[in-house]
Amino acid sequence: MTSAVGVRVLGPLEVVTTAGPAPLGGSLRTLLAALAVDAGRVVAADTLAERLWEDGGLDAGASTVHSYVSRLRRRLEPQRPPSGWQVLQTRAPGYRLVLEEGALDAEEFRRLLTLARGRTDPAAARDDVARALSLWRGPAYADVPGDFARAEAARLHEQRLEAEELAAELDLALGRHRQVAGRLPALVAAEPFREGLRAALVLALYRADRQADALRCYEEGRRLLADALGVDPGPQLRRLHELLLRQDPELDAPAPATAVAGAAAAPPSTEPSTGSPTGSPTGRSTAPASRRPALPTPPTALLGRTDDLARLHRLLDDGARLVTLTGTGGVGKTRLALALAAAREAGDRAAARFADGAVLVPLATLDDAADVVPAVARALGVGAVEGPGARDAVAAHLHPLHLLLVLDNFEHLLDAAVDVAELVRTCPHLVVVVTSRAPLRVAGEVEHRVEPLALPPAGAGADEVLSSAAVTLFCDRARDVVPGFRLGEDEVRVVADVCTALAGIPLALELAAARVRVLGPRDLLARLDEALSGGRRDLPERQRTMQATLDWSYGLLDAPARGLFRRLGVFSGSWTLPVLEAVEGPAVLPLLEALVEQSLVRVEHGEDGARFSMLEPTRQHAQRLLGDTERAQAQAAHAAAHLALAEEAYGGYQRDAQVGWLRRIERAHADLLAAVDAACAAGDGETAGRLVWAMWLFWWMHGHLAVGRRACAAVQRLPGLPDRVRVRVDLALGAMLFAQGEHEHAEEVWDRARRLAVATGDDEALAHTAAGTGITALARGDAATAVERLRAALGLAAALPAGSDGPWLEALGHVWTGTALTALGRDGGEGAAGAGGRAREHFETGLALARRRGDRLTTFVALYNLAQAEAPHDAPAAERRLHEGIELSAQIGDLANLSHFLDALVVLGAAGVDRDPERLAVLLGAARAARDTVGADVYGFYLRDDAQLEAARSRLRHRLGGQRFAEALAAGHALPVEAVVRLAVHGPGTLTAPAAPATPPS
Ligand SMILES: Nc1ncnc2c1ncn2[C@@H]1O[C@H](COP(=O)(O)OP(=O)(O)O)[C@@H](O)[C@H]1O
Ligand SMILES: [Mg+2]
Repeated sequence: MTSAVGVRVLGPLEVVTTAGPAPLGGSLRTLLAALAVDAGRVVAADTLAERLWEDGGLDAGASTVHSYVSRLRRRLEPQRPPSGWQVLQTRAPGYRLVLEEGALDAEEFRRLLTLARGRTDPAAARDDVARALSLWRGPAYADVPGDFARAEAARLHEQRLEAEELAAELDLALGRHRQVAGRLPALVAAEPFREGLRAALVLALYRADRQADALRCYEEGRRLLADALGVDPGPQLRRLHELLLRQDPELDAPAPATAVAGAAAAPPSTEPSTGSPTGSPTGRSTAPASRRPALPTPPTALLGRTDDLARLHRLLDDGARLVTLTGTGGVGKTRLALALAAAREAGDRAAARFADGAVLVPLATLDDAADVVPAVARALGVGAVEGPGARDAVAAHLHPLHLLLVLDNFEHLLDAAVDVAELVRTCPHLVVVVTSRAPLRVAGEVEHRVEPLALPPAGAGADEVLSSAAVTLFCDRARDVVPGFRLGEDEVRVVADVCTALAGIPLALELAAARVRVLGPRDLLARLDEALSGGRRDLPERQRTMQATLDWSYGLLDAPARGLFRRLGVFSGSWTLPVLEAVEGPAVLPLLEALVEQSLVRVEHGEDGARFSMLEPTRQHAQRLLGDTERAQAQAAHAAAHLALAEEAYGGYQRDAQVGWLRRIERAHADLLAAVDAACAAGDGETAGRLVWAMWLFWWMHGHLAVGRRACAAVQRLPGLPDRVRVRVDLALGAMLFAQGEHEHAEEVWDRARRLAVATGDDEALAHTAAGTGITALARGDAATAVERLRAALGLAAALPAGSDGPWLEALGHVWTGTALTALGRDGGEGAAGAGGRAREHFETGLALARRRGDRLTTFVALYNLAQAEAPHDAPAAERRLHEGIELSAQIGDLANLSHFLDALVVLGAAGVDRDPERLAVLLGAARAARDTVGADVYGFYLRDDAQLEAARSRLRHRLGGQRFAEALAAGHALPVEAVVRLAVHGPGTLTAPAAPATPPS
């Protein structure tokens, strides 16, 4: 029997014994806390000593611990029971605190929370949570010093927030939104990044008829995330926002009584951390928000397909993990795949929810099977993954996830089928749905042929005709162009014939329906019959029907619109109006509108305004119609417009507009690469060369190193490049090589560029080559040469005019010179004296210049160096630098740099005392994942100390034990970037308050 001692840690530490409250003095309080954080487990005497005397200032001997233990024992138990001390037991190699169930408030809190999560009755669950929360009297371990207590307090705080989220969610399910709207604002203000709390508040405000407040609350959260972390809200908040905007009935409050009954009838949730026990549309997820984009939601209703979906659901329920939807272009494969994915993601079917959601990977714009895996990585928000290790890196990321991937338009990339099969084989919870005209033919694949929409049977009555999927689709689309479109009694049969002539192929139906503006059903049928009677006999029937319909649709355009349609075939991805105007001239809008009206071009409204695109069958048709001369002209105009875009972006990468430009160029990347290809094919070295030069910084920061290198190499082989261009192609190629870790090769290429720059008097290029060869010297350990070249680069850059790369290079040159001086100081060679001090001046100057320009890249390079210089004597200052650099890297999506900063943070943290080793190990795993992802070190000019990192690693492994260490690494490996950033910067165990939001000065 243990005696009735109560210990309360959820606030200042308190002890209550049978004899009443037992106040404890400083050291005894710390000792009790040191035992309580591991209550029920043996804590080694050495560990206790460390926890008691963290600064090592006092004698930390086990004998001292023992005398403290003796004193504490007598306070907890007035008399030693005959069977020995019961509460504070001696167990080799230390001591153990044993309390009765419920006697330690932190344990009781956790127990009640688990209990609540297991319940199906929300009212009972809410009572448990209320009891759990009522145990709190203030911050946990409030009056106990020491990092161990702070780490535990941080964990408890996290659980308290989870409890608050659960409470809010249960309240919402119980119809108590007004209470939530009153209680939550204070909490959300204190925890602004907590998406679950914010989502609950948004919903509560909405239900309390405060819609404007709800939107404001969402918007505030979105802005905070964007400003502080450079990320978008997670899927939960975004979905809520969408529902909010359309005032979706799903948001409405449940009637109190039915809510309880409904929830009680639901099966118990086996996955309390992901399943929402109350069916709240906020769909609580304790998993961190992810960068994964939401599935696109088609603007029209899905017609027919009930049988297809039923079969597909059955296949997935039975364990199929690779399903290919095949069928002719336009038959509705993509649409069906999206419908399936959305249903599985939303968990419309209880058995089959994908906790990590569904992701669409559009593949139409790729032309190399090797790019499939990188495209998957990008769609997952993993960032740039390239090279031979790419598949493994993506597999490692996918391994823990319960995710559905939709690979759309696979037919031209069948060589990548093995990669897909391998991902499915190695990732146990991954399900892949592919759309393709042809099956992949790999093991485990299940093919589902997508047939056209159901047609009305011959001789069907009007009602039956009108309710068939094909006719409904036709009439729906007709109503889009002619509001109020209705069929006369005698027209019903005519439309049935139209649909039958078009074989029920949805895309063909859409094109035909767009014509009802001028053609009545009868005319339409007559013309279609004629158009469809021709057509290529060598094609399978449906494809012939589809092509004939496209031809017909095209034939009805006027000549200028036809020309535009053909020329749009040179676009690879989607485009914006300004880009199209740059290609086609300012008069293009009415023509574009005509194509949109005829359903040949689609519009979507996104971040940078309207984006236009064509469905794959339509785009291919446009290409088929394009004559050779016309194609060459269209490609030249397309390339010229994209060159202008890329060159405008180039200036933006070097200043505060970075983030926006990087995103825009990422969206236009497929077309930019197409422009490089086309210019190369046309022998237009000037355009191709200027394009790769304008893109190198984008490739560098977003880790498209292999793609960039391929493009540079292709251009570099072109004969007759003008000198000014040739030298820049080499500069860009050198940068790709350097980033990929081929420093010697980079130095050769940069040196070649240097000779050409000297010969042609190109000072801007010369400054770049001096800087480039400077950092290669640094990377190979020749500090003296590096200092010399980088100083030269500084001088050259400073002399360049304002509109050039000079100011940017000058800032970077200062930082690099500082790095070289630091290396020189370490070597102790000639000129080493005072190098450290001079280095620091250069860092500060570079930092100030970079900040003034809002250039995050140079800013974080400076911060990395400064953190290293400060780490030995001012750890908190170094940590602040690292935090800022981490946020900046995340803002521009530079994963390589992020990994360096995380490593540095781990080294710094592990050198301190027992500071939440678990978090550090998680960060270590995340750093590794980021590096695997890019597949290259990129920042070869950082002076990293691998021995220190190794030491930090083993220290953490030692502190945590092999098992926990491995688990933490794995957890870090799977963590999405923004969660990593949050943990690194705001997580428990940080030395300093979070850095001010890392936005550049305006
Ligand atoms: N079941 C359906 N209900 C409504 N519209 C559909 C349906 N199936 C296809 N569509 C529409 O038809 C067009 C072609 O479909 P899509 O899925 O792109 O074909 P595919 O991928 O086979 O080429 C799209 O505009 C799509 O929205
Ligand atoms: Mg498709």
